[in-house]
Amino acid sequence: MSAAADFGSQLKFEEGPISPRETLPPLPAIDSSHIANASVCPRTARTGMKEFPPFWLDTVNECLWRCRDDGNDERIRLTPKAFAVLRYLVEHAGRLVTQDELLDALWPDTFVQPEVLKGQILDIRRALGDRPKGPLFIETLPRRGYQFIAPIKDMSTESTLGLEQPCRKLVGRDAALAQLGESLQRALHGQRQIVFVSGEPGIGKTALVDEFQRQVATHVPAIRLGRGQCVEGYGGMEAYYPMLEALGQLCRGPGGDSVVRVLATQAPTWLIQFPALVKREQREMLQREMLGATRERMLREISEALEAIASQTPLLLAFEDLQWTDRSTVDLISALARRRQSANLMLIGTYRLPDVASSDSPLKALKQDLLIHQLCHEIALEPLGEVEVVEYLAAESGGAAVPDGLAGLIYRHSEGNPLFMVAALEHMTQRGLISRENGKCKLNLPLEEIALEVPESLRQMIEIQIDRLSSEEQRVLEVASLVSVGRSRFAVAPRAAIGDLERVAFEDVCETLTRRHCILRAATPEKFPDGTVYPCYEFVHALYREVCYRRMAPARRANLHRRLGEWVEAHWGRVNEDAAWLAGHFEQGGDWPRAIKYLQLAADTAGRLFGPRQAAVILEHALELVNRLPDAERAENEITILEKLRTICNASLDSRAIEACDTPGPILLKTEAIAEALESRAPCESLRTAGSTRMP
Ligand SMILES: Nc1ncnc2c1ncn2[C@@H]1O[C@H](COP(=O)(O)OP(=O)(O)OP(=O)(O)O)[C@@H](O)[C@H]1O
Ligand SMILES: [Mg+2]
Repeated sequence: MSAAADFGSQLKFEEGPISPRETLPPLPAIDSSHIANASVCPRTARTGMKEFPPFWLDTVNECLWRCRDDGNDERIRLTPKAFAVLRYLVEHAGRLVTQDELLDALWPDTFVQPEVLKGQILDIRRALGDRPKGPLFIETLPRRGYQFIAPIKDMSTESTLGLEQPCRKLVGRDAALAQLGESLQRALHGQRQIVFVSGEPGIGKTALVDEFQRQVATHVPAIRLGRGQCVEGYGGMEAYYPMLEALGQLCRGPGGDSVVRVLATQAPTWLIQFPALVKREQREMLQREMLGATRERMLREISEALEAIASQTPLLLAFEDLQWTDRSTVDLISALARRRQSANLMLIGTYRLPDVASSDSPLKALKQDLLIHQLCHEIALEPLGEVEVVEYLAAESGGAAVPDGLAGLIYRHSEGNPLFMVAALEHMTQRGLISRENGKCKLNLPLEEIALEVPESLRQMIEIQIDRLSSEEQRVLEVASLVSVGRSRFAVAPRAAIGDLERVAFEDVCETLTRRHCILRAATPEKFPDGTVYPCYEFVHALYREVCYRRMAPARRANLHRRLGEWVEAHWGRVNEDAAWLAGHFEQGGDWPRAIKYLQLAADTAGRLFGPRQAAVILEHALELVNRLPDAERAENEITILEKLRTICNASLDSRAIEACDTPGPILLKTEAIAEALESRAPCESLRTAGSTRMP
């Protein structure tokens, strides 16, 4: 556990709008050995988990588990409906849930006989080993309904979001933590805070935010935490991606009911993004509301809703990797920063400085403008100093003395980049250059010889680490490295299929790469549309994924992308929702017709749900790809796409856009002009339906 500065003593609650909930238990120490040995069952990923020993319910992945003494928890099979009934009872534990309430909530569109419900309860009791007389879990209240009676522990309140990975000692970040602590203090006094954490890749932005959230969860237990990840590649087309992700967590997290209520009253255009949370009678009304949704309205709604949520309990949002953000999220940050109402709200956004500084990213302009107007703070993380490398090594060797010169060597090589520092130590340990004796760090070669062995760049070091793996392990890493979402999470089944590997063998290799080589780690399993839950893994850091990806010859890469796209088409069953992601794989795979087809589908979804701007951007990209088609196919596609653009313009009744559409001239200039013309008046957009994770 980190020994970094603890700002907790600075934090005080103001009387007034903040109403602290019950005090939560302190965070348990996170023990990396236990995580490395985690089985497929995701006990370390606690979001949405409810425990009623010996069972626990994973509401995110919709499965029930029974704890076993050997730590390999056992998954209990339940039909989706039985799971939904159990979940409803657990989420409304301690009170009578009438039959009508259950039928209304879970069979909203169908008439169902009460016997069907009884059958589901019977299945659940069987799964839990419970009995109607003298029950331990579900009590029947005759002719009225049911009550979940076992005590429930909400495991998601024990840990903050996304902190499931092992935590090493965080060094050299006391000042940054103190700055974040001061901002939080101001937020707790009603002064909204926007803080950007920036720096080069691997400098420790995520580690800092993790540590900060951990401390906040301990010292301000009443706070609500929501974290959203921007998506690399096609993320720019996924409007509001991090906000939707964070909002989903808030809705499903502790006190989620009241978040949903706030959305229903203040932000209906956002609530509709979460179909599972919308009652049948609300749905039609919300769909009507969507017809009048404009970009401005959506921004106003979410701003007001976040303020209302923060008026109940303080709110800390963290958006990760804003270098990949979509424009809508930038607009949202801007709106949140500029509103004047007081709010117990803090938003942290991390981004890779070089990516943003060297681009014309809208984030760059926004940050500069907010800084000038003193509406945000920036914490630019610097490399660690040699003293901090010494501190890190000392902590890694359990406080024992570190061999002379070792810290200097690592410092010189890593130039204080923490990711490089961690990787260099790993490299030396794996090559037997250093070892531990009675917990003490020992050099096995003279320092000068070690210096020659340590690669000069992080990339080189990762390359060497991968070169030393077996060819089967390398193959697994290659197919794993095709980008998916967020922290490069991937599911075993599709990757094994496209790599022509047995699923079990593939998973075994992933386990080895997790345990022995620290390249992958277990991630939350994913439920596929057919109901099967598949184990998932992720790269420990994006650079590992990138190196593995770049090692492949272009033809192999393209082939794997195409095969992954085809696998998804055949098995995923959510191609409409994930059309942009799918288009990406077909584009990388050089399958232009299918890439164009899915881009059009993605544009349709974006246009239908949220309006023209995003649809126009996507169609613009489709037009770029049309140029790669053979002449015979080009004209037809071009016409279809331009017609779609024209429809968008007509629907938006924007004369400038229509004019741009009709004016002869180069197609790209034309679409750019259309997108620009629509910009000022377009409703907001999203390709994503909440809950969709684009996993394969
Ligand atoms: N201050 C620190 N002390 C010790 N280890 C650190 C520190 N900062 C980061 N690390 C370790 O370095 C590695 C990279 O850190 P992290 O993932 O936070 O970087 P990042 O800036 O978020 O990278 P990216 O730009 O790719 O998102 C992790 O293994 C992390 O645990
Ligand atoms: Mg990061």
